[in-house]
Amino acid sequence: MAIQEQQALYFTPLTLGHIPHVLHIERDSYPEPWTFNMLRNELENASGYFCLMYENNILAGYGGYWLMLDEAHVTRVTIVGSRRGRGLSKALMLHLMEHAKEKGAVQMRLEVRENNAPAIGLYENLGFEVEGRRLRYYQRSNENALVMVKRLAADN
Ligand SMILES: CC(C)(COP(=O)(O)OP(=O)(O)OC[C@H]1O[C@@H](n2cnc3c(N)ncnc32)[C@H](O)[C@@H]1OP(=O)(O)O)[C@@H](O)C(=O)NCCC(=O)NCCS
Repeated sequence: MAIQEQQALYFTPLTLGHIPHVLHIERDSYPEPWTFNMLRNELENASGYFCLMYENNILAGYGGYWLMLDEAHVTRVTIVGSRRGRGLSKALMLHLMEHAKEKGAVQMRLEVRENNAPAIGLYENLGFEVEGRRLRYYQRSNENALVMVKRLAADN
């Protein structure tokens, strides 16, 4: 489904009250889900941005990045299971890219599991390129990560 066909998307920064909802989606979405403390740290991280995306006032996903000098490092990009496949992650990523650019980032970098085809497809679709591979980056599963990068040009 094209982004234009989604209804009323809005983005709002993470608050303490959101954390239980995010934890629930984390457990459904990742082999190594973030913990309460990791999410709470995002509230206090002055160089971080972590937002929730609502579609028609229903939580549809969330994402964030850490700004390190002029680079934004993506920390999370997650869409609620029942809402996947409708272009929502693309809308979320475009929001993160725009936000990071406004904060002064000139490039965006991320790690993604080597076998996470939907996520790799998403990032390639948005113009990210594979820069390298980190062996056994994900310690619990021993999986490799691809490092992907995109320059945040004026025409994103
Ligand atoms: C990865 C994830 C965010 C994709 O969200 P989504 O809303 O379903 O993706 P979209 O519908 O926005 O698709 C955007 C693009 O991603 C790619 N994509 C999405 N699903 C895909 C799949 N199953 N296989 C290959 N590419 C896929 C396509 O390029 C797609 O663009 P297109 O529809 O124009 O072809 C979602 O599957 C998710 O939350 N997964 C669990 C958490 C996760 O792994 N996050 C990434 C961490 S690095």
